[in-house]
Amino acid sequence: MNFEQLKQEVDHIVSDTKKTVDDRLLNICQILEKHITYYNWVGFYFINGNKQELLLGPYVGAPTDHKVIPFGKGICGQVAVSNQNFVVPDVKEQNNYIACSITVKAEIVVPIFVDGKNIGQIDIDSNTIDPFTEADERFLESICEKVATII
Ligand code: SME
Repeated sequence: MNFEQLKQEVDHIVSDTKKTVDDRLLNICQILEKHITYYNWVGFYFINGNKQELLLGPYVGAPTDHKVIPFGKGICGQVAVSNQNFVVPDVKEQNNYIACSITVKAEIVVPIFVDGKNIGQIDIDSNTIDPFTEADERFLESICEKVATII
């Protein structure tokens, strides 16, 4: 499945109101991880109320100990503050990076906005070095916009 087909699949998933929001988010993680070979860990983090921290939401991939990430820490914590996409071609080049698995070579984090407010993010790890292009950014921004409608 290409990006356009995956976007249509995500439309179907988000509109399935018989499922809980978490189940729909998990389904999104599952189809992205399944159909994009270089997406090897796919998950959501959401801002925890008024606290300056992110909480892990639904994900697929290796279990992670990093269920809570303070603002500013790691790639995810930096995106919570910057409100901007963060593309990391090579995680070894990053000082402020939280390693979840030794197999991970690259990461992309794209924020989710609801009414202009950064409420969370989609986080993708890749076991391939430098795999992400602007097409991934545009694709993931579109996924985040769809997710924002059910949060
Ligand atoms: N690597 C992330 C932590 C989350 S894991 O990738 C699941 C970071 O540096 O924020």
